[in-house]
Amino acid sequence: MATTTHDEFEDKFHHVALRHERSWVFIAVAMISVLFIAAVYLVVHDYGLVAKTTHFYANPDTPATLADFQGTGIKQTGPSSYSVYEMGRAWSWTPGTGTPITLPVGSHVTFYVTSGDVLHGFEVQGTSINLTAIPGVVGHVSYTFDKPGTYYIICNEYCGAGHQAMIGKIVITGAKQS
Ligand code: CUA
Repeated sequence: MATTTHDEFEDKFHHVALRHERSWVFIAVAMISVLFIAAVYLVVHDYGLVAKTTHFYANPDTPATLADFQGTGIKQTGPSSYSVYEMGRAWSWTPGTGTPITLPVGSHVTFYVTSGDVLHGFEVQGTSINLTAIPGVVGHVSYTFDKPGTYYIICNEYCGAGHQAMIGKIVITGAKQS
């Protein structure tokens, strides 16, 4: 006959151990979840590594048809505030390529950036402006140009044969602000 004796102490021990294991599994999962959510939030919200978006459009061609993206794409929204509606296409930035975006020093500019074809990387050298231009998505990023000079818009996402020539210009005019 097999021994089926239960030690009362052992039973109690297993019961307590099981409870502890359950709570520690829960705590571990909760910690991982909090860290994961915090990391995603920081990456998306604070660093803007993923485009901060105004809208997602089901049809990737929609942004190109929006009124904001017609004409010069540059709108004054306040005494020294501007909105720039930037369309990336293989291989140019509109506005910026050909005719530079010319604004006075001290301009606070919000760029609304999208793409008319494939992924492009909207980067303005010497600034913190860097976001991905995605078809069907309008991302935005703001920056204050405190120093006069010429800023180059480059494409930092490989987009085909003319990628390295996908360059635009922002010219900030006026005297240096103190
Ligand atoms: Cu556009 Cu690379």
